[in-house]
Amino acid sequence: MTQFRISPSILSADFARLGEEVRNVVAAGADWIHFDVMDNHYVPNLTMGPMLCEAIRPHVDVPIDVHLMVSPVDRIVPDFAKAGANIITFHPEASDHVDRTLSLIRDHGCEAGLVLNPASSINHLDHVMDRLDVVLLMSVNPGFGGQSFIPETLNKLRLVRAKLDAYQARTGREIRLEVDGGVKIDNIAEIAAAGADTFVAGSAIFGKPDYKAVIDQMRAALAAVAA
Ligand code: DX5
Ligand code: ZN
Repeated sequence: MTQFRISPSILSADFARLGEEVRNVVAAGADWIHFDVMDNHYVPNLTMGPMLCEAIRPHVDVPIDVHLMVSPVDRIVPDFAKAGANIITFHPEASDHVDRTLSLIRDHGCEAGLVLNPASSINHLDHVMDRLDVVLLMSVNPGFGGQSFIPETLNKLRLVRAKLDAYQARTGREIRLEVDGGVKIDNIAEIAAAGADTFVAGSAIFGKPDYKAVIDQMRAALAAVAA
């Protein structure tokens, strides 16, 4: 049975109380913490760097899932590994040498993944499958929280799910399939049914006062898919 993970994006958290926010969301049942890094170059917004990752690291013991929306990528990878990141994903268009960047992430002791924008081809995954621990599909255009889920992502999820299942049947190795953007209580079940196993949710969780209530309702919706 699929093990589903919920990775709250702290992009929608209260930055003035970030330590408390990550502790609260983990106590509410978060499996990972999703950490959105934006550089005002690859995407039109500016968020957090390795110093903030290092600052929240002692507050939680779940994996920190660093989503790099930066270009270039390689320079900053060792800094995030040192700051306590567990998973580092990046956009193939942002790196000149995708295979090298994937190796660099693993060489620094982290799990590695590629992030595909809504219009990015799933062919980016070919030839680097052995280097991937996670594939992250953007279901919004990257740069901002609180946008609406792009429905075409469901078709794309089904295609990537088939690719990953075929890979697992061949090699025995599981690559996780994560989705990011516009995930809510009322669409998480259809997103899971299309093949996702890991769900980033920012505004849906941090936009409500009771994080546990939201995460519980997401898990209840997921349980219905798994049953
Ligand atoms: C967008 C970020 C997302 C964002 C999701 O570029 O990668 O992680 O925080 O926010 P919601 O869940 O509000 O769409
Ligand atoms: Zn993200």
